[in-house]
Amino acid sequence: MSAPVYRWRVTLEEALAANRELWTRKNAEYTDSRAHDAWLEGDVTWGQWHVPETQVRVLPAQLDGLDVVELGCGTAYVSAWLARRGARPVGVDPTPAQLETARRCQRELSIEFPLVEAPAEEVPLPAASFDLAVSEYGASIWAEPRLWLAEAARLLRPGGRLVFLRNTTLSILCSTDDGRMLECLARPQFGSYRYDWRAYGDGVEFHPPHGELIRMLRANGFQVLDLVELEPPADAVEHPYYNDIPLRWARRWPAEEIWVAQKDS
Ligand SMILES: C[S@@+](CC[C@H](N)C(=O)[O-])C[C@H]1O[C@@H](n2cnc3c(N)ncnc32)[C@H](O)[C@@H]1O
Repeated sequence: MSAPVYRWRVTLEEALAANRELWTRKNAEYTDSRAHDAWLEGDVTWGQWHVPETQVRVLPAQLDGLDVVELGCGTAYVSAWLARRGARPVGVDPTPAQLETARRCQRELSIEFPLVEAPAEEVPLPAASFDLAVSEYGASIWAEPRLWLAEAARLLRPGGRLVFLRNTTLSILCSTDDGRMLECLARPQFGSYRYDWRAYGDGVEFHPPHGELIRMLRANGFQVLDLVELEPPADAVEHPYYNDIPLRWARRWPAEEIWVAQKDS
């Protein structure tokens, strides 16, 4: 047994190192310059086409007083939005540059909450200390699902809610390795758990298909409450930076999806 475990550990460390490097670069290219404005946005929205929370209603109706952990918070604008609504967020992310931007925004906008440097696979926070765990393109695609879902389950109180946004399986299957979106299948679904895109200047991503994800959620004591496939709003425009999926494609097929699960009481 020891050899496979050893190889897997090394692979996980490599994935984390590659993704930290990637998000340090993306912070310098885009996320740092965007963060202040993102923190200031009035509405809670989801994904690259800003689908309003009022439309999808995936968060608890009452956020005031909830303990929230954001897993893979990046520049932490989602945590900032929830803090302004009375929640008590803690942002967790393994990339120092992303957290440094979040700290700058905290100073500039006087919205304070704890920020913890850690991967979602191993979070140095006590068990059963949160009512809500959330991830918008954070742990949901950059962390090893078997590990981060177990961590989310550990961190949540009984009855707590897990809400995460990721790319749809369909969008992954229609994308080519060099980043084009086809209007037909470009790759097989079997073997789509993990993608190593380092050769293309990207990172290591995790995209388990629906069946696998449902089984992992249930194995960690979650009930799936909803799966919302997002349709861009009528006034959506192409994203200036995250433009791998053209708006035209996303208007015909779901490109992003939000999972809502509840930890057993
Ligand atoms: C697209 S950002 C998502 C966060 C936020 N919604 C944003 O757009 O700023 C992706 C984040 O995932 C983080 N990340 C990478 N590997 C991770 C891991 N193993 N666990 C948690 N987060 C990770 C990166 O550091 C990066 O800040």
